Amino acid sequence: MKVLNYGSLNIDLVYRLDHLVLPGETQAAERFDRFCGGKGLNQSIALARAGAKTLHAGKIGPDGEMLLSALREAGVDVSPVTVGQEPSGHAVIQVERSGQNAIIIYAGANGCISEKEIDAALSRMEKGDWLLLQNEINSIPAIIRKAKARGLRIAFNPAPMDEGVKTYPLDLIDLFVVNETEAAALTGLAEEEDALTAMEQTYPSAIHVVTLGSRGSLCSAGGQRYAVEAKKVQAVDTTAAGDTYIGYFLALLMEGKSVDVCMEMATRASAIAVSRMGAAPSIPLRSEAEA
Ligand code: RIB
Repeated sequence: MKVLNYGSLNIDLVYRLDHLVLPGETQAAERFDRFCGGKGLNQSIALARAGAKTLHAGKIGPDGEMLLSALREAGVDVSPVTVGQEPSGHAVIQVERSGQNAIIIYAGANGCISEKEIDAALSRMEKGDWLLLQNEINSIPAIIRKAKARGLRIAFNPAPMDEGVKTYPLDLIDLFVVNETEAAALTGLAEEEDALTAMEQTYPSAIHVVTLGSRGSLCSAGGQRYAVEAKKVQAVDTTAAGDTYIGYFLALLMEGKSVDVCMEMATRASAIAVSRMGAAPSIPLRSEAEA
């Protein structure tokens, strides 16, 4: 079984600051780094480092070779990625001393994917394989419908959340992974347990995961609820913690592991990720998460 992650590829411009810049403030950064990122790329690296057979589909510009190299190095098959004229997507990321971040994304090539490219990428997949999506590329509803018609199972991380997500064919999703903000936006319910109940009622056959940052994560699957506490670590950069969780959770689910085991490994892997700088570079190997 394999997974195709159809997702964003970003060049992350990361500024380390005393605190997140306030409205009207100018602040000198203590440090600047250029990392590989994008929720798509990060989740593919997490899937591959967790041991899943992973293909990545998406689009870069002529400046995107570093993104492909990072994926290849992690063992991801990048043959479905196409190169266009538009520059690669990028993110401007502020990280303050507490490890908290604030992110601006610019879609660039991530927003220029054609129907022909979608069909070519999906043709690589067989019934029973998984498709993973986030919300940083164009044509998500078409990708969901086409993938379902091919018999794929679909995991969706609606991040970054926007109003458009509610118009997507969400009844075709098999696994939702949302954070507390996304759960609230999706359901209109601020309390996470209530939001999870609403998600269960609306999409009863899906598995639902709600990540809660330093408070751990919740899951609902097959009529049962699960809760796992976060590991206590010194956070230096929370970027890609959620991406790491998703990649690990899905990789272990594909191995047939029980939901509580998937949550435990995903929790360990994301705890390691927050203790390191950067998005993709912070994602641990399976051996590190198991140790
Ligand atoms: O989830 C973290 C990612 O969000 C960053 O790598 C950035 O590129 C944005 O897509």
